[in-house]
Amino acid sequence: MNNQLEIGIAGLRMGCDHIDGYLTHPNAKIKAICDISPEVLERVGNKYGVDSRYTSYEEMIAKENLDVVSIATPNRFHKDMTMLALDNGAHVLCEKPIGMNAEEAIAMHRKSEETGKRLMVNYSYRFIPQSVALKQRIDAGLVGDIYSASCHWLRNISGFSQFGGWFGKKAMSGGGVLIDIGVHCLDKVLWLMDFPEVESVTASTHDYICQKVAKASGSDFDVEDTVEAFVKFANNASLMIQVSWAANILESNLIEFRLLGEKEGLLEQNINQGYTFNAKTFYESQGISYTLNIDDVSQDLCPTSMYYFLDKIIKNEPHMADGSEAVKIMQLIDAIYESAETGKPISFN
Ligand SMILES: NC(=O)c1ccc[n+]([C@@H]2O[C@H](COP(=O)([O-])OP(=O)(O)OC[C@H]3O[C@@H](n4cnc5c(N)ncnc54)[C@H](O)[C@@H]3O)[C@@H](O)[C@H]2O)c1
Repeated sequence: MNNQLEIGIAGLRMGCDHIDGYLTHPNAKIKAICDISPEVLERVGNKYGVDSRYTSYEEMIAKENLDVVSIATPNRFHKDMTMLALDNGAHVLCEKPIGMNAEEAIAMHRKSEETGKRLMVNYSYRFIPQSVALKQRIDAGLVGDIYSASCHWLRNISGFSQFGGWFGKKAMSGGGVLIDIGVHCLDKVLWLMDFPEVESVTASTHDYICQKVAKASGSDFDVEDTVEAFVKFANNASLMIQVSWAANILESNLIEFRLLGEKEGLLEQNINQGYTFNAKTFYESQGISYTLNIDDVSQDLCPTSMYYFLDKIIKNEPHMADGSEAVKIMQLIDAIYESAETGKPISFN
């Protein structure tokens, strides 16, 4: 492989974020793009000056000799597209969730191992500068053992726009809010906690609000809009997660991660209900309580996930967010759904 990596992108809405992310790397060349919509293909191809355009993913993979493929199509297509790219010698950056369930995730991870080609999942919330700084603090031992974590990601009902779209159809998405934004919460907290072994999960799911609105508008909607789950780890730490696409709350979008360590408590929140964040750490020393703001983090700490992926390929170094981590997240998601459906705790032993 020469130093330039030739990249193909499938699915050109989130896929455009991938293009922008790759283009921050000097060795990236966007070689081919794919979308089933000819209009989208033309608009994006013209915008980025990409001439090789495909409405068929299979044709793109067969005709182009790609080094890297990004998959940003609806969840239902992630597995087959990933397997085909890996079989054809490309490394894959797949959007979250890795697939529809743990079974798919395991097959994708195995294929990556068999082919020796990389599979990374775009857990983009790990690449927030404040999150990178918190992770460094934890890894440096400043926080101590983390014994408790919570995460809330709630959107106001007025912002919910997925009715009629594939996000609300289980056959296309694999699930609702949990597999959509809950997957980021689970991934981020588990990554910060260094993936402790899960012991058990108890969960509830709800669809009151979206079902009501979907019925009134004649739309199909067969997934959950709200989830709460309690996860107990083998090291006695615990995690509480609450996520909703459509809640009766004041804010349009509320995101908060809190981790309690033996030495420090950490908080990361979004600012102005958008997708920029601040972080704080709280600790006590000799009877005095301190708050340290972690707001001004150097962007050098934090490339895009696409830059990171290319960099690791070029340097031949291991990358994070690989198939093995994605399998653990999907197993947790499957267990949350199973607990909600059966009304019983799910044990991992
Ligand atoms: N990491 C993140 O923060 C983040 C943010 C948004 C979306 N996503 C993920 O990205 C993926 C896409 O989400 P989105 O919001 O862009 O969806 P979207 O429906 O807005 O866009 C999907 C695009 O893929 C195209 N497409 C559909 N089927 C295709 C196929 N078989 N072959 C080629 N193109 C096809 C559609 O025409 C559309 O242009 C999802 O898995 C979603 O979970 C991740």
